[in-house]
Amino acid sequence: MKMSLFRFICLILTWTHIQTSERPNCYECDNYHICSCSAKDFQRVPIVPPDVLSLDVSFNKIEFITQEDLSVYTELRTLKLQWNKLGTIHKEAFHSQSKLEELDLSFNNLEDISSLWFSKLQALKHLNILGNRYTTLGSVALFEFVENPTLKTLQFGNPLVEDVRRKMLRKIRRLDELTFVGGNLKSYENGSFQTVEPIRAVSISLQGFQNDSTLVCRIFRDVSHPETSLTIRDVTVMTKEDAQPFKEIREGCTKRLTFQNASITDEGVTKLLEVLDGTPMSYLGLEDAYFVGHGWWQKAQWTHYENLHMLFIRNLEIQGFFMFSSMMQLAFLLKHFTRVSVINSTVFVMPCNTSALLQKVEYLDMSQNLLSDITLQETLCNGDSKMRKLNTLNVSYNSLKSFHLMPRLVSRLHRLTSLDLSHNDFLHMPQSCTWPASLSFLNLSATKLHHVTPCLPQSLTVLDLSHNYLIAFHHHLPNLVELCLTGNRFISLPDGGQFPNLHVLLIQRNTVNMFNQSNLMAFQSLRFLEAGQNNFVCSCDFVNFFQGHTDHLVKLRDGRRNYVCDSPFTLRGWAVDNVQQGYIECHMILSVSILCFMFILFGIITVIFCYKCHVCWYLKMVAAWLKAKSHPAVYSSETDIRYDAFVSYSQHDAEWVEEILVPKLENSGIALCLHKRDFQPGGWIMDNIIESIESSYRTLFVLSENFVKSDWCSYELNFSHFRIRDEHNDSAVLILLEPIVKESIPMRFCKLRRIMNSRTYLEWPQDEDNREEFWHNLRAALKREDD
Ligand SMILES: *[C@@H]1O[C@H](CO)[C@@H](O)[C@H](O)[C@H]1NC(C)=O
Ligand SMILES: *[C@@H]1O[C@H](CO)[C@@H](O)[C@H](O)[C@H]1NC(C)=O
Ligand SMILES: *[C@@H]1O[C@H](CO)[C@@H](O)[C@H](O)[C@H]1NC(C)=O
Ligand SMILES: *[C@@H]1O[C@H](CO)[C@@H](O)[C@H](O)[C@H]1NC(C)=O
Ligand SMILES: *[C@@H]1O[C@H](CO)[C@@H](O)[C@H](O)[C@H]1NC(C)=O
Ligand SMILES: *[C@@H]1O[C@H](CO)[C@@H](O)[C@H](O)[C@H]1NC(C)=O
Ligand SMILES: *[C@@H]1O[C@H](CO)[C@@H](O)[C@H](O)[C@H]1NC(C)=O
Ligand SMILES: *[C@@H]1O[C@H](CO)[C@@H](O)[C@H](O)[C@H]1NC(C)=O
Repeated sequence: MKMSLFRFICLILTWTHIQTSERPNCYECDNYHICSCSAKDFQRVPIVPPDVLSLDVSFNKIEFITQEDLSVYTELRTLKLQWNKLGTIHKEAFHSQSKLEELDLSFNNLEDISSLWFSKLQALKHLNILGNRYTTLGSVALFEFVENPTLKTLQFGNPLVEDVRRKMLRKIRRLDELTFVGGNLKSYENGSFQTVEPIRAVSISLQGFQNDSTLVCRIFRDVSHPETSLTIRDVTVMTKEDAQPFKEIREGCTKRLTFQNASITDEGVTKLLEVLDGTPMSYLGLEDAYFVGHGWWQKAQWTHYENLHMLFIRNLEIQGFFMFSSMMQLAFLLKHFTRVSVINSTVFVMPCNTSALLQKVEYLDMSQNLLSDITLQETLCNGDSKMRKLNTLNVSYNSLKSFHLMPRLVSRLHRLTSLDLSHNDFLHMPQSCTWPASLSFLNLSATKLHHVTPCLPQSLTVLDLSHNYLIAFHHHLPNLVELCLTGNRFISLPDGGQFPNLHVLLIQRNTVNMFNQSNLMAFQSLRFLEAGQNNFVCSCDFVNFFQGHTDHLVKLRDGRRNYVCDSPFTLRGWAVDNVQQGYIECHMILSVSILCFMFILFGIITVIFCYKCHVCWYLKMVAAWLKAKSHPAVYSSETDIRYDAFVSYSQHDAEWVEEILVPKLENSGIALCLHKRDFQPGGWIMDNIIESIESSYRTLFVLSENFVKSDWCSYELNFSHFRIRDEHNDSAVLILLEPIVKESIPMRFCKLRRIMNSRTYLEWPQDEDNREEFWHNLRAALKREDD
């Protein structure tokens, strides 16, 4: 009692946990509203944008779908839920998906398939419910509640299915494809696999119930129809019993029959041939089959297979294939074939005698086998083959090595139009060859060719030379319509003049650098070009041409996005369409010329500017200042001072200074220094001035327009760090000989301006009465402090 209570609580808890567990988000959606949320360990249907068109949540751990999980995704066209753990789906879970076209519920744990799920899926075309746990199908119609089911393909069944009932496909008019797997099938209601009109293609796995031959017979009867292409999978044909049910297929007049994953013996084949005797069947296929035997089927020689024209064998594994004896006794079968494919079936030779029986054969595909130069010579009777109607020969993916044999072997096949020699190891091509005049298609893809020669037939309309080591191609092929040079080593397009009729050129994955208008115009008829994934050099010419003109000349069928720049380095990886090159990159010479011109102009303007703004003066000033900083002036001691004042004046004012100022002051005992009078002869004038200033207590400036204009300049330059070093002490005395408008003093004479601003200066009065006062003031200004 206690135990069961505990389990009950646990159950409640897990249930509530599941019910309340959050729905995860899935952000893996692209611009086309396709969301790929596969293999993410989701336990619930994830939340995606509501406008999703295709939702893939396969390979997760989703166990149930509620009514709301999908309700907002009304635009859904494709919903993939395969390989989850779905056990429960709410009966209205898909009710808002009226536009859904494809629903995949395969490989889940569904125990019952409910027609209520599909009741609103009016547009559903593809339904896959393979591999679940249901055991019965068809007690009700899958599309019971849909007015006109549009279903086209249906895949269903699993190894547990026991019972298939007739109602299942009711209301469906016609299916394109029906696939059934029924491992444990025990009961099949007649007519279950029939729709109103015959199904186009039916595939049935007999695994698990093949020994119940009455069951198999009844199924075969339902699906045999001239318009139905039938595939029987997972089947063994070894005994008379195995072959017996195929009687129904003959009676149903099936025209196309394929065995897939079949195990076959000589006995089985013989019995099957007997059972199917006189069949209207025209196509027999054998894929992924395993054969034990020697090809001794002559017991069935009396049978009639006039209608069987097409034989398709792929991936046939023959136990001890080297013991497979001559097929001479199979003439009764072989002589009717027009199309024979024996692909990937370890065929190393078809003896000349056997191929001689294939008199009607038009299409022979022996690709992916073990043919060599010698055995192909045997197969084609050393150039004298009886397969005179052959128009297509496919010997691709074999071990052929000598190209020069090929023209000789086929030269007498006067109807040969297509020859596929791809994926052999030819390496070289002879200089000249003789081909049948009818040959128009030649595939030499992946044959390790390094160069091509005039051996190529002139009659070709389609030539595939992809995946070789070619670097050039110059041969005139007047009829060529399609040329494939993909995966070689071309650095430019071939010369279009050689191919006047070429419509399609494929030259992807080479090392083509660029192409231009004249390259393309050389092809007179070119309409489609595929040249993506090359090493394009995105020069201005190429980019301009590509962006602007290619569309007028050809259609780039592989999409413009595949045209990507390889160089210059800065553009590597860019789509050529997205490159935006500036004017400067594209007109380099012009740009450089303009730049040079601008530099020269700038230089000239600078020179003029310097001249106008006295830049040289400022520079000299700066130099002087720097010099002064590095060699601080040594001030002369007070005792060296011999004069009271050094008079600085312009030559134009000499008369006034010498005749009025000097006598007046020297008479009152003031010692003046005049450079004219007191200078040491022989010394450099500047040194003299400096010395004079150094040995004078003050400097007396006689200012006039002339002085400011012509003499101040050298003062500021040369003596800036001497006595007038500090405009706040009064070592400078100014006399204004004539009124000077302060604004007329050039800005750069900042020192003078500052002195004139900070100091009262003495103006030489024009009026005689005021001159006494002027002299008085001047004498006072020149007086030494220590006096
Ligand atoms: C078919 O074989 C299975 C076992 O593989 C066997 O159980 C069944 O009875 C057989 N059915 C018939 C009709 O022989
Ligand atoms: C089903 O069809 C078979 C013949 O294929 C026939 O012998 C059998 O009587 C039919 N069964 C029913 C229930 O109609
Ligand atoms: C092929 O058929 C055999 C039984 O005939 C089966 O055991 C095997 O799984 C099948 N293989 C495939 C790939 O379906
Ligand atoms: C060729 O056949 C073998 C078995 O016979 C198979 O394993 C292989 O995958 C086949 N190759 C191709 C390319 O189909
Ligand atoms: C095959 O043809 C050769 C002649 O090319 C002939 O000698 C030989 O007997 C034939 N073999 C059979 C089995 O017919
Ligand atoms: C020749 O066989 C190969 C491989 O089976 C195939 O890819 C190719 O399309 C065939 N060529 C022709 C011309 O049918
Ligand atoms: C030439 O053969 C290759 C390999 O078999 C194939 O991929 C290609 O499509 C063929 N070329 C043409 C033009 O059919
Ligand atoms: C086009 O490119 C070719 C080289 O492939 C070159 O010789 C030719 O001068 C170019 N024509 C023009 C118009 O640029």
